Amino acid sequence: MVYTTYAGEFPLQNGRPNVEVVIVSDAKAGGELIAGAMAELLRRKPDALLGVATGSTPLPIYQALAATVDAGGVDVSRARVAQLDEYVGLPAEHPESYRSVLRREVLEPLGLDLDAFMGPDGTAEDVRAACEAYDRALAEAGGVDLQLLGIGTDGHIGFNEPCSSLASRTRIKTLTEQTRVDNARFFEGDIEQVPHHVITQGIGTILEARHLVLLATGEGKADAVAATVEGPVAAVCPASALQLHPHATVVVDEGAASKLKLAEYFRHTYSNKPAWQGI
Ligand code: F6R
Repeated sequence: MVYTTYAGEFPLQNGRPNVEVVIVSDAKAGGELIAGAMAELLRRKPDALLGVATGSTPLPIYQALAATVDAGGVDVSRARVAQLDEYVGLPAEHPESYRSVLRREVLEPLGLDLDAFMGPDGTAEDVRAACEAYDRALAEAGGVDLQLLGIGTDGHIGFNEPCSSLASRTRIKTLTEQTRVDNARFFEGDIEQVPHHVITQGIGTILEARHLVLLATGEGKADAVAATVEGPVAAVCPASALQLHPHATVVVDEGAASKLKLAEYFRHTYSNKPAWQGI
């Protein structure tokens, strides 16, 4: 199949990409754009359930949202926050447990306490039961309204490593060596301290959120981003499952966009989009 854009003919074997790609100048601009969408959601739905990710990439989003709150731009006092994934075996109070990280980076800056927070229990004796309980809790909370995602250099979302089932539910996963190497920076550069196992929302679970927003910054993510939005839907690139979602937005800086063949088309469509539509 040949897909014709104003930039010329572009061969696509798997049809027209249906993920909206927004190319921004830098991470700060990406953070502001996404925080703006979160603020807009919270104005419409003050008790929205926000799905949050950890890692370095979403920090500009959290900073921009906190700045909006401090400036009186939005009231987040009724917002609820749901965790995407968690290390298995790290006590909740460990500074690098994702519960601790999210408390520091999201809850405290937004003035929310743990009552507003839900996440899987990474220390549960019965991990399988803890995973099932978390999936149930998300559904009982009415489902995630907006799920923030980062992306691994191998295309993982949450900790759904390559070849995760696209229908997977919250479960325990084993991290790849690459992900442990990537995350060693949070553990004094010592890979031995990085747990091997995590609980992660499954891809099927993630796809149930009403809006998926993935932020990727830096050239190191360029291959994974290209596979996500221009490659086939394939478990080998878990983030490509976003193509199955009716409302998925991928926000990338110039570095992360550098391998996109359709970059000019994405710039064109976004710059011509009616502002009222938001992302
Ligand atoms: C963590 C998570 C992961 C990260 C990914 C990218 O909650 O969901 O998928 O988003 O590993 O991490 P950074 O942003 O540190 O490059």
